[in-house]
Amino acid sequence: MKPYRILCVCLGNICRSPTAEEVLRSIMYQHHLNVVIDSAGTSNYHPNASPDSRSQAHAKRRGYDLSQLKARQIQIKDWYYFDLILAMDLNNLEHLKQLQQKAILSAQQPQTVATLALMTEHDASQQKQPIADPYYGGKDGFEQVLNQCESASHAWATYFKQQHIG
Ligand code: 4NP
Repeated sequence: MKPYRILCVCLGNICRSPTAEEVLRSIMYQHHLNVVIDSAGTSNYHPNASPDSRSQAHAKRRGYDLSQLKARQIQIKDWYYFDLILAMDLNNLEHLKQLQQKAILSAQQPQTVATLALMTEHDASQQKQPIADPYYGGKDGFEQVLNQCESASHAWATYFKQQHIG
């Protein structure tokens, strides 16, 4: 069976979305869900950069290895390859809505364009809260990103099982 394809997206692709990618991958694996996961940024601020060293350090303490990931900007063709694109915050969501419209307009088959949602969409404990940008803040921000990504990923696992996805 073809895996369900998910792209996690934030602004820089060096803090939140690589964390979301690795946490989601780990939790999907725990739930035996057949998914492939990648991440990207709406910006091209850090092309080919490794995740922020603070994100890597906080993630490592919980057993997530971000060291092999490299930042990239989202491309129009991602809308045709992925099934689901997850925005980390409301700015990302607005930017992605515009890109999704572009992808629909230039699609040969509009139904093949990825669905767009917030990372926290199905997590009742977060009520569609954004994953806050930790870049200019302190350590708590990086822990908060991990807490939010873990909780949101469990909620996606429950949702995918209900919907028979993956
Ligand atoms: P991210 O965090 O979107 O979670 O990767 C940021 C990374 C870099 C910048 C902003 C946010 N920046 O302005 O360079």
